Amino acid sequence: MADDDQHVSEGPADDERAIPRIDTSKPSIARVYDFFLGGKDNYAIDRQVGEATLRIAPDAPAAGRSNRAFLRRVVRHLAAEAGIRQFLDIGSGLPTQGNVHEVAQGVDPATRVVYVDNDPIVLVHGRALLATNGSTTVIEADVRDPESILNHPAVEALIDFDQPVGLLMFAILHHVNDDEDPQGIAARFREALPSGSYMALSHFHNPGPAMPEVSAQASTAEKLFNENLGTGRWRTRDEILSYFGDLRLLDPGLVPLAEWRPDPDAIVERGITYHTFVGGVAHKP
Ligand SMILES: C[S@@+](CC[C@H](N)C(=O)[O-])C[C@H]1O[C@@H](n2cnc3c(N)ncnc32)[C@H](O)[C@@H]1O
Repeated sequence: MADDDQHVSEGPADDERAIPRIDTSKPSIARVYDFFLGGKDNYAIDRQVGEATLRIAPDAPAAGRSNRAFLRRVVRHLAAEAGIRQFLDIGSGLPTQGNVHEVAQGVDPATRVVYVDNDPIVLVHGRALLATNGSTTVIEADVRDPESILNHPAVEALIDFDQPVGLLMFAILHHVNDDEDPQGIAARFREALPSGSYMALSHFHNPGPAMPEVSAQASTAEKLFNENLGTGRWRTRDEILSYFGDLRLLDPGLVPLAEWRPDPDAIVERGITYHTFVGGVAHKP
């Protein structure tokens, strides 16, 4: 299905066209997620995976929305309450509503944000969105190679590692397979953070025998993701907690996304994915 027409997609009508290096014959994590969020930067192959996921987890779009709402609450908290003025957002995904820079720069327009993703489509759309913003940039790099991110010229230009940093790893470490050392990757980023920094993450969760039905659904979704996207791990609570190392978890700890400091008027959708997507924020003293 991929062709060599060099074109920036404007949406479904452009399915058969592709920007350079965008392979529309294979589903992409960023574009499947965009499909769940109701975006238009996805192709037929992505929607096929999205629709197969909906058959297992009809509330997958709610899980995506819940993750974005969690992200916005975390960034607002870090910017407005904790005084963080620089964010490194790894596995940032396609631009959507309420991006990190919009929330953080709503608190202080001088806040600096570096978005990192390994999918070239994110770079193209991110650059288009951010063309006019000198405090924000997007780079193409792989979380599995932390040095390539920490030593990237754009990161060195915008992030001062002598000042507290907001490290954001939303829905990214579950796309790192067990044999790719997610613990070592998380540890390397934690180590690079100066004191006073925060690490926030969300992650697919398998609650195990305590919730057999939810656990079975998580295993089915894991199989589907691995067969179609090549990644996707629904990990145990202890595995996810290990990514925070010895940082101090803020209240209420590692919880289903909707339970992390909810807005008073929030409408919580408690579907099958409620317990299979968790998040937390930790502080480096
Ligand atoms: C589910 S999206 C999450 C987007 C955003 N962080 C959020 O939570 O709303 C996961 C993103 O991680 C990116 N990603 C997956 N594996 C990656 C890797 N090895 N290095 C960098 N980014 C990666 C995908 O391209 C995708 O954009």
